[in-house]
Amino acid sequence: MNCSEESASPAAAVTVPEELAGVYQLVQDDLAQVGSAILERLGHSDATIDEILHYSFQLGGKRLRPLLLILSARACGKVRREHYLAAAAIEMIHTGTLIHDDILDGARFRRHLETINLHWDSQFAVLAGDLLLTLAISLITECSRPEIYPIVAEACRRTCDGELSQVAARGRLDLSLAEYERIIEGKTAALLEASCRLGALLADQPEENVRVFSQFGRDLGTAFQIYDDVLDLAGTDSETGKTLGTDLLNQKLTLPAIHFLQTAPPSEKNALLALFECGGFGPAESEKIRLRLLESGAVDFARGEAHKRVRRAVGLLGTLRGKAAPGQAEALDALAAVAEFIANRNK
Ligand code: IPE
Ligand code: IPE
Ligand code: MG
Ligand code: MG
Repeated sequence: MNCSEESASPAAAVTVPEELAGVYQLVQDDLAQVGSAILERLGHSDATIDEILHYSFQLGGKRLRPLLLILSARACGKVRREHYLAAAAIEMIHTGTLIHDDILDGARFRRHLETINLHWDSQFAVLAGDLLLTLAISLITECSRPEIYPIVAEACRRTCDGELSQVAARGRLDLSLAEYERIIEGKTAALLEASCRLGALLADQPEENVRVFSQFGRDLGTAFQIYDDVLDLAGTDSETGKTLGTDLLNQKLTLPAIHFLQTAPPSEKNALLALFECGGFGPAESEKIRLRLLESGAVDFARGEAHKRVRRAVGLLGTLRGKAAPGQAEALDALAAVAEFIANRNK
């Protein structure tokens, strides 16, 4: 398997992609602090609820959002307790939304384990996700920097709004590129943007630098979701550790399908629409569509779009290099490495 698991304690474990081993090593003490901040708040007097809350962090995930927040802070030359609290809160929010997302998508696996909706049931999953979100809010209010409260609130609003808009767009075969971008900028980019922004803001950067970090996170976030949508069609369950193929099965149009429908010759387009619209849409139809999207180059087109956004994000980092001290330059290099990973990964 292309990863290693650090397991200082089960709930603090992080899934480290092999190609980023050096980057994670650079901030391993910081990530351990974030892991402890999460772990300290998961305890519950009810044994089942306690088990579910710990279970959702058992295999850690990549902890990409804390990684970006901490690296952004280091790139600005300052990491403090508030960074750990904010990173822990963002990761809890992310995990809560994943628990909810798995109910929506009917997913069976997440982070290499059965989803909470499968292992327990969706009632536990709805409420455990809610509890994580509220624990995150309490955590944020422990930060002595109230200016970050509206930033986190707005990121949560955009995340939920994006997921909700996606549900509202389900089955719509005329979904436009602009509508797709709006959905992913909300449901995924908002939290990555907030991570980078909070890293810089809590390190007391001037407004123009904070804006650069925000834009960097937003570009990475959209690239990240485009590539996640590529993986849903071209990745493997065993490497990602989650149930793939759910986008087509749930009739969620993502970039490859949108591009195909906009560019394929009419006969091909109509054949695809017929598959989508046929009465008993199921795994067989979805597999046919998947193969068509792969063969037509539509998936490669989406990969290219993700790369484009990564290039733009990495370009932004260049504007920060001029005044960077050696430790800061190392963090900027690490951010660039994370950006490259985002559109070249298999998990
Ligand atoms: C998956 O996020 C959900 C999306 C926003 C696409 P991650 O791939 O960051 O999930 P974990 O945290 O590593 O499990
Ligand atoms: C979900 O997007 C993003 C969230 C904000 C939760 P996906 O549905 O594509 O995420 P995965 O593929 O299940 O991780
Ligand atoms: Mg999903
Ligand atoms: Mg996905």
